[in-house]
Amino acid sequence: KKRILIFASGRGSNAEAIHEATIDGRVNGTVVGVICDHADAQVLKRAERWGVPSTVLELKSFENKSAFNDAILEAAKSYQPDLICLAGYMRICGENLIHAFPNRIINIHPALLPSFRGLHAQRQAVEAGVKVSGCTVHFVGTGLDDGPIITQVAVPVYDDDTEATLADRILQQEHPAYVRVVTAFCADQLHIEGHHVSGMHSRPEK
Ligand code: GAR
Repeated sequence: KKRILIFASGRGSNAEAIHEATIDGRVNGTVVGVICDHADAQVLKRAERWGVPSTVLELKSFENKSAFNDAILEAAKSYQPDLICLAGYMRICGENLIHAFPNRIINIHPALLPSFRGLHAQRQAVEAGVKVSGCTVHFVGTGLDDGPIITQVAVPVYDDDTEATLADRILQQEHPAYVRVVTAFCADQLHIEGHHVSGMHSRPEK
């Protein structure tokens, strides 16, 4: 079984979907830990309920970003992960982490990259007036929300959508999309060549 480490900052619904899929056997892996950058995040309550250890590292407790990034790397290594899943982790990973786990860090972003990188992707989509948005699961590169795309799922954007209604519609696709990717990764089905990832097909859930 692959050792899956989750990085999250808040609610943790994607983390929950991944954990559930390891419990019911869809994913050939185990969630071995959660690293979280906010002591009051809901994801920590979930980890407790799962009986999975967590590590809280808050930027404010460190001298500077580089000391924080060093601590994150040490914590990550201590879990000996085969896969790191960023699940609502609202920070850019340090290059030290990315270099330590090449092609082993995956992120989910609530937009069709390369559109609407960064924060408030769903709001950016509503404001831009696009008629289609969605979610992207990708390997993490050193830039903001870039790196080889693994799968994308599109959803319609309606005239009366708000940031919240669009975020809900996208989130419903995020959970199964992320689980499909983690399933494929843990079955060694994903292959990366340059910027191209093969081994997945984007199929919207019924
Ligand atoms: C999700 O919509 C995820 O795609 C987004 O934050 C939300 C976390 O929800 N991530 C980003 O915007 C990363 N740039 P969750 O904590 O319930 O999984």
